[in-house]
Amino acid sequence: MILSFCDIRKTPINNINILEKETFNNLTNFRKVNKDFISKVEGLSIKLEEYIGHIYAHRAADQADIISFVIKEKFRKQNFGTLLFKAFISNLRNNGVKNVFLEVSKKNIIAQKFYYRFGFENVGYRKDYYKEKSGRIDAYLFKTKI
Ligand SMILES: CC(C)(COP(=O)(O)OP(=O)(O)OC[C@H]1O[C@@H](n2cnc3c(N)ncnc32)[C@H](O)[C@@H]1OP(=O)(O)O)[C@@H](O)C(=O)NCCC(=O)NCCS
Repeated sequence: MILSFCDIRKTPINNINILEKETFNNLTNFRKVNKDFISKVEGLSIKLEEYIGHIYAHRAADQADIISFVIKEKFRKQNFGTLLFKAFISNLRNNGVKNVFLEVSKKNIIAQKFYYRFGFENVGYRKDYYKEKSGRIDAYLFKTKI
């Protein structure tokens, strides 16, 4: 089995959308991404024989804002998220990015734990940031220097 990374712009758009729908279908404002949108972000996907996950961010000057980071459920807790995240941060660093930001739901303790491991700090609060079918959820703004 060979693990490989692929530029998000060369990743089949269907793989991205299927995984995002599986993961974020509880959000009322969930929307499919299209090729035009993906052509403007920086990111990576990861696969073995099958698709495992992806991460992508908007980049402006020396700052990147992570928009999406997902590992397919059956592949979670097997270090794939860590491998993908490290590879992505390394690419950003090599391309001159110095600060990375992201929003994480107040309820998403797993992701918060994941980001703290990478040195992220909680630097802000976004009230009602996520709109779930069950109601609005506040988020934290996380930041790290890379
Ligand atoms: C967050 C996510 C990408 C992590 O991917 P992953 O491949 O499972 O992560 P890893 O196996 O590399 O785990 C790395 C660390 O994250 C934390 N972590 C991951 N899964 C966890 C769990 N179920 N419970 C507690 N901590 C967990 C741990 O600190 C873990 O380190 P450890 O194994 O040494 O304890 C994955 O859980 C996911 O896709 N979640 C749904 C989408 C999401 O929430 N994305 C982030 C939005 S901001």
